[in-house]
Amino acid sequence: MQDPLPVIFASLLGLVALGSLNGQVEARAFFVFGDSLVDSGNNNYLATTARADSPPYGIDYPTRRPTGRFSNGLNIPDIISERIGAEPTLPYLSPELNGQRLLVGANFASAGIGILNDTGIQFVNIIRMPQQLMYFQQYQQRLAALIGAGAAQQRVNQALVLITLGGNDFVNNYYLVPYSARSRQYSLPDYVRYLISEYRKILMRVYELGVRRALVTGTGPMGCVPAELAMRGRNGNCDPELQRAANLFNPQLEQMLSGLNRNIGADVFIAANTRLSSLDFVRNPGAFGFVTSKVACCGQGPYNGLGLCTVLSNLCPDRNLYAFWDPFHPTEKANRLIVNNILRGSTDYMKPMNLSTILAMDPWT
Ligand SMILES: *[C@@H]1O[C@H](CO)[C@@H](O)[C@H](O)[C@H]1NC(C)=O
Ligand SMILES: *[C@@H]1O[C@H](CO)[C@@H](O)[C@H](O)[C@H]1NC(C)=O
Repeated sequence: MQDPLPVIFASLLGLVALGSLNGQVEARAFFVFGDSLVDSGNNNYLATTARADSPPYGIDYPTRRPTGRFSNGLNIPDIISERIGAEPTLPYLSPELNGQRLLVGANFASAGIGILNDTGIQFVNIIRMPQQLMYFQQYQQRLAALIGAGAAQQRVNQALVLITLGGNDFVNNYYLVPYSARSRQYSLPDYVRYLISEYRKILMRVYELGVRRALVTGTGPMGCVPAELAMRGRNGNCDPELQRAANLFNPQLEQMLSGLNRNIGADVFIAANTRLSSLDFVRNPGAFGFVTSKVACCGQGPYNGLGLCTVLSNLCPDRNLYAFWDPFHPTEKANRLIVNNILRGSTDYMKPMNLSTILAMDPWT
């Protein structure tokens, strides 16, 4: 007579194996759109100067190598993936994004882009929003070929999305040079209204493409980044003009999102107040374990705020003590603080709700 034990044992093993296989793809899909704050390496594949694919970028990444992320280590999308129990999303242009990996999602972001098509023209070859959305459509066709049209549609409807746009429309457009074309065309309040109306069209398109949960970040306190302290600020004070821009843009973005949700009849778009999250550590770096929020870890000139971060730049020995990694971008440590608020923040940070509430609410997570 056959001993039943090995059979049971074998099927248990089978269950465990299946379980862990499911575990890899069980987390909802995650899609990312936007600029350098969330680009995980698309620009590596493009002929552009907006890139982060050489040292010391990535110095604290698990591989200790540059990846195209504008960070010493992980960026905001990576940390969100970590928190929803998913693998990091690959850049859409990565040749590794194929087969089962498509189920994890994709990152379409491209450093240098903005809401407007003419933002970042100096970077030449970057993936502007219309193209990011075309790639998203292309992605959906590839996913449908893999798992069928119905399942692909469902995976997109149930996905989490992150969209980070707007900063470059100020620093790499309106305020790029004195008397820029856009600043001659529009007063700041009119420019902000124009940006918001164009952003609304982009988000409507995102909705039409099947997205039902999107975290939309505002701009940070743009006048306080080391680059602006060096180029525009006086005596280490945040540049008042860029602060005025952030103070106009962010509340109008929140209003626009809640208007969209009202029209749609559901809380599709969630406003993430990254301006406030960043202001917390900019104003009070010591409370978050930073020695400074004014000086970038990597750079040169006043506040290490001028030029690019390269092997020739000053480099701080301990990145955990700095809020800013390079003249424009936060360190991994600061990114973690921002994601903490996305996950658990009060309505001052997340409107109408935070990500842990979403995760608890959506039945498929
Ligand atoms: C941006 O470019 C796309 C095509 O690439 C075009 O459809 C769209 O109208 C442009 N947006 C504006 C505001 O000009
Ligand atoms: C945010 O998340 C926490 C749980 O982590 C919850 O207790 C809190 O009430 C949430 N806040 C809001 C405003 O949704």
